[in-house]
Amino acid sequence: MSSPRPVALVTGASRGIGSATARELGRRGYHVIVNYRASAEAAQATVAAIAAGGGTATAMAADVCDQAQVQALADAVAADCGRIDLLVCNANTRQPSFAPLESLAWDEFIGKVTAELAGVFFITKRVLEVMRRQGHGQIIYISSTAADYAGPGRLCQSTAKTALSTFGRHVAAEAGPHGITVNTIAPGAVRTEALAGVLTPEREGHLAGKSVLGRMVEPSDVAAVAGMLASDTMRAVTGAVIRVDAGYGVLEGGPSSRA
Ligand SMILES: NC(=O)c1ccc[n+]([C@@H]2O[C@H](COP(=O)([O-])OP(=O)(O)OC[C@H]3O[C@@H](n4cnc5c(N)ncnc54)[C@H](OP(=O)(O)O)[C@@H]3O)[C@@H](O)[C@H]2O)c1
Repeated sequence: MSSPRPVALVTGASRGIGSATARELGRRGYHVIVNYRASAEAAQATVAAIAAGGGTATAMAADVCDQAQVQALADAVAADCGRIDLLVCNANTRQPSFAPLESLAWDEFIGKVTAELAGVFFITKRVLEVMRRQGHGQIIYISSTAADYAGPGRLCQSTAKTALSTFGRHVAAEAGPHGITVNTIAPGAVRTEALAGVLTPEREGHLAGKSVLGRMVEPSDVAAVAGMLASDTMRAVTGAVIRVDAGYGVLEGGPSSRA
């Protein structure tokens, strides 16, 4: 059976940026598959929020780093919905170490890079099979502006997200001839549970102070850009990396000033 609504699969949608994106897509008429790894209750809360806004959604557990679980997830979506129009690869599969190279262990470093790439590799391959058969589809990767910056504590996250952004560009090249667009959103620091341990009020003040808008980025800011990319009219944008950083990179020291 085929869903009457376009279907969006959002990985890691039980909270944070993924949950906000799932809710935005629900508002835009997608039937949303709310993927999560362990937080069933939080995933159900995302589903309930989508339903409260008049949308439809289903929570589905799967560790996106596990090939067999990804296969089972994709098979279940195909059986339930018969189509996948949009894949948002968002899951925060492993917290990075913030250690500098001199004290960074190889296992921590390669563990982050591997988890980042495993979290997109298996699901991209599997969902692309469906999208190629359909002759259309969209993929959005959630990278980070960390890919553009060097500096204390950023080595692990920056290397992993640079690899992800490069991966996305290659997928765009391979998928384009099949009518599939592939874009990357690179948020700056976003107020989510992922940063709960490091985002002190002082750090928030510092980050907001370096933004030309004088504020932090919220999950809904990232979701708004994902929603815009997911609209029917965005047919000629692919291989793009869109920064959502409240203008953090505009000021001296940011990537645009180095260009
Ligand atoms: N927060 C930031 O400042 C920031 C900045 C730039 C980019 N990003 C990127 O934005 C994305 C979302 O970050 P966030 O801050 O919203 O993260 P978060 O609050 O830590 O939420 C992570 C989500 O990913 C899910 N997840 C983790 N491992 C998974 C796995 N193996 N399989 C399936 N789901 C998994 C979690 O589900 P469970 O709870 O069920 O495990 C949860 O729903 C990440 O890719 C992150 O790198 C974040």
